[in-house]
Amino acid sequence: MKRRPEPELMDTQEQALAYAQADFNESNTLFIDLLRRLDPGPLDGARVLDLGCGPADISIRFLRAWPKASCDALDGSQPMLDLARAALDALPGVAKRCRLIRDQIPSAALERGGYDLIISNSLLHHLHDPQVLWRTLIETGKPGALVLIMDLMRPASAGWVEALVATYADGEPKVLRDDFRNSLFAAFEPAEVAEQLAAAGLDGLEVGVVSDRHLAVSGRLPG
Ligand SMILES: C[S@@+](CC[C@H](N)C(=O)[O-])C[C@H]1O[C@@H](n2cnc3c(N)ncnc32)[C@H](O)[C@@H]1O
Repeated sequence: MKRRPEPELMDTQEQALAYAQADFNESNTLFIDLLRRLDPGPLDGARVLDLGCGPADISIRFLRAWPKASCDALDGSQPMLDLARAALDALPGVAKRCRLIRDQIPSAALERGGYDLIISNSLLHHLHDPQVLWRTLIETGKPGALVLIMDLMRPASAGWVEALVATYADGEPKVLRDDFRNSLFAAFEPAEVAEQLAAAGLDGLEVGVVSDRHLAVSGRLPG
């Protein structure tokens, strides 16, 4: 099935709020589990970058699990960052280790070669040019930095898209069901991601299927 891109930023308040209020516990728990399986160690003093952080649920889960790391969390959407700010304000111990950055990748605001770990969940499928993400990893990661990128993967047919929407978004507000459907159409297939990585010179990273609707890219940047 052909890819159908969607707008990059989720920048209406309605869309951001519906997203922040949705229950992503299963997939966000999976993300942290995948990170643990990469055996990143204690990450004491580590600088972490969360690209396309949205309401910052993944950044917060990460900072709770690794209490001596700090995180720069970037998103181009102000409504998303307002929700991230509110979530962080309720958690002062975590908030002091998290810096929110409003910008759209490719971003000049990010330090070059500054990060020990780069994480991102559900950003890749938003990008009209996916190479922007892979270039951002190369530019902002330290040599040998650990990477975990998780995203939706595009199903083989429109019927399979509808089956996933019915399974995972039934009963959710229309704006969220529409977002999920559009995201599945906009997502990449694992083989396409492998081609993107090869073109970027990142074929040392692995692409794997990690659920019925998610793929993950993981490994270390060239050292
Ligand atoms: C589906 S949300 C994922 C949010 C969060 N990572 C999570 O897992 O809950 C995708 C986010 O990426 C942001 N985004 C899309 N394109 C972007 C870009 N080029 N630069 C920065 N943020 C972007 C959107 O505004 C949105 O908040």
